[in-house]
Amino acid sequence: MGVEQPPGVEQYSRHVSAAHVAFLRRLGLDDPFFDGAGAAVTDGTGVSYIDCVGGFGITNLGHNHPAIRAALIEQLREPTALGRPFITRVQARLAEQLARISPGDLECSFLCNSGSEAVDTAIKLARLATGRPGIVAAANSFHGLTMGALSASGLPGFRKPFAPLLPGITHVAYNNGDDLEKAVTAETSAVLLELVQHEAGVTVADRDYVAGVRRLCDRRGVLLIIDEIKTGFGKTGKMLACEHFDLVPDLLVLGKAMGGGVVPVGAVVGKRSLWRKFSLSFPMSASSYGGNALACRAGLAVIDVLGAPGFLEAAQENGARLQAGLQECVSRHPGSLQGAAGLGMLTGMTTAGAREALGLASGLRRQGVLALPAFGNPKALIFEPCLTISRIQVEAVLTALERAILLQEQSE
Ligand SMILES: Cc1ncc(COP(=O)(O)O)c(C=O)c1O
Repeated sequence: MGVEQPPGVEQYSRHVSAAHVAFLRRLGLDDPFFDGAGAAVTDGTGVSYIDCVGGFGITNLGHNHPAIRAALIEQLREPTALGRPFITRVQARLAEQLARISPGDLECSFLCNSGSEAVDTAIKLARLATGRPGIVAAANSFHGLTMGALSASGLPGFRKPFAPLLPGITHVAYNNGDDLEKAVTAETSAVLLELVQHEAGVTVADRDYVAGVRRLCDRRGVLLIIDEIKTGFGKTGKMLACEHFDLVPDLLVLGKAMGGGVVPVGAVVGKRSLWRKFSLSFPMSASSYGGNALACRAGLAVIDVLGAPGFLEAAQENGARLQAGLQECVSRHPGSLQGAAGLGMLTGMTTAGAREALGLASGLRRQGVLALPAFGNPKALIFEPCLTISRIQVEAVLTALERAILLQEQSE
């Protein structure tokens, strides 16, 4: 006789992914009745957790933000003709807002349905604009799982099962300007980077490195594509992480939290000069649901909430407290923890090994906090709570972490 499972789990396991269910079960998270509100989730038995997984970056505004729900319901009530080939006012308004929040002269946008699709589009756009095929990206980067985005991702474990990937993409050491300089050739169309890497543990780009990359790209006539799918929309305490670096890329790639944690969305925002050939390539560069009214309305509501007085400042303060608390924890437990790094609400901590990281994730869950190991580095635990996490909740996360580590150390 097998163990009886709550309704939904058996079907999910059979028809979606048994491996996913097994993974969640190891962490005690295979309950199909989770509810979410703000920075917390509650399981089917009523136990509440502070969510430091944050939907891997989609729930910057917290779970079920009332302004997002209200905006989407209102949008559904509008009798707009929703399909192609019509122009919708809501897409035009979002494109205008994306131009407003983007740095420098980035003013044209392409809307699609996921971050990966946006990365693929940025690669196509760079090839089209320069007539060159090459892309230089970074080791340990993550840009998504479609064929183009996966080819650009620098994590061997993700890439290997799907080889051969797109030719012409090289990977260089992150935060190493010399390595990058050597890799850029006459065949390079673009350099593609994240400002905070997170999939193999969190690494923040050095300011000098980023400034050097910008200069190199200008000198060599190569486009700079910055992937802010994870770091965008407040994650690092600024609307966009580019602001921390005073950086104006040629193309900015967005997604995740732009959909308010509800609607799938992706976007490429770029300079007008790059749009000439690209917009002529319509309809080759369009997708059926790209720029749909619900996604655009969610994007507008997200920008609105993030722009409310004090919202980003509070997120910045609470993010700084989280970072400081994680660093203090590392210094108290040098045998169990190897380091912590982050920017705003995107933080990570390196443990002694994969077993320890998974054990700590389980221990945290028992203490009422959800955090998961990085998929590209099982030694690393990622903490990326919703921006709406309160100071009290941050302190509760740090207390839970301390207890979980002490218990783990005692059991060794
Ligand atoms: C930096 C980065 N780029 C791209 C992607 C891919 O986005 P999506 O999952 O929406 O395809 C992700 C997703 O985790 C990401 O973190």
